[in-house]
Amino acid sequence: MRVIVTGGAGYIGSHACKALAEAGHEPVALDNFTTGHRWAVKWGPLAEVDLNDRRGVLAAFREYQPDAVMHFAALSIVGDSVNQPDLYYRTNVSGTLNLFEAMTQTGVERFVFSSSCATYGETNEMPLTEASPQMPLNPYGQSKMMVEQMLKDLSAAGDCGATALRYFNAAGADPDGETGEDHDPETHLIPIILQAASGRRSHISVFGSDYDTPDGTCVRDYVHVSDLARAHVAALETTTRGEFRAFNLGTGHGHSVREVIESARRVTGRSFDVREAERRAGDAPLLVADASKAKAELGWSPQFTELDDIVRTAWHWMERDTKAGSAA
Ligand code: UFG
Repeated sequence: MRVIVTGGAGYIGSHACKALAEAGHEPVALDNFTTGHRWAVKWGPLAEVDLNDRRGVLAAFREYQPDAVMHFAALSIVGDSVNQPDLYYRTNVSGTLNLFEAMTQTGVERFVFSSSCATYGETNEMPLTEASPQMPLNPYGQSKMMVEQMLKDLSAAGDCGATALRYFNAAGADPDGETGEDHDPETHLIPIILQAASGRRSHISVFGSDYDTPDGTCVRDYVHVSDLARAHVAALETTTRGEFRAFNLGTGHGHSVREVIESARRVTGRSFDVREAERRAGDAPLLVADASKAKAELGWSPQFTELDDIVRTAWHWMERDTKAGSAA
């Protein structure tokens, strides 16, 4: 299948392009390079388009005539979404409507959506299943849930078939070192710790040590980005018109901030300064996936099950001397 991958120059999108190419599909990266990188487009052509450019999106669909869409392009910093909700709704919701329009006009029927555990919000029910209540705590999660709702309606109307993949904490990098995580500014825990380990950052701040968790720090389910990419291919190949499906993607194991710091110490062999800091607004104490539905229905299970192995791939990526990113 030829697949338009929005956000194909980004962190998860570029790993998905690689997984698609390896599975015999043809990815076309559609990106505006707000957060993506030119060096990350390696597995197929590039359509340089902003999702808010309605005509540009349609022109790309006319040019490439895709069979399917994988939609990663979105703004994704939770704190920013609280301060600039209009920007988040315009990009994540209105931009997606432009995609739907282009799909309808060019007869594309398969859609795989990059959703998030941020659609669940706070609950005592852990691990989270797909049936857990969706009550987003912030505009970012809300924008992802709105798109899921639109996909349900469009699928029910017979316009397309859609699969929403609700991932937990994407982490790590391509084991072959061909792509990886490179955000600016970086807000994610693992790359921040590794920046401290490599001396690029003076210290790591632990946001909150008084949560109701075993060691008082927040617990997350870190899932390897290449495992996520494989799940997208499985979802693509089984999405059928008229049907909406949603799957959690995680390992089912939670790790606290302190455990991630210890893992980084083991993997890097470096010591670095760790400071306790205030809680970060909007953080849920504990987010762990029940991903048994993806296993049963997509035949997906993560190959990276150990946190150290996930952290090691991120460390190898960060330690590349001539990182392609520095040349972009
Ligand atoms: N953390 C620190 N110090 C840091 C950075 C993070 O202690 O310098 C903590 C956070 O407070 C949190 C944990 O590490 O408890 C993980 O934080 P990340 O920012 O790496 O990830 P989040 O869980 O906040 O966010 C991820 C995705 C979002 C998604 C969200 C769903 O990055 O896109 O999960 O909750 F919305």
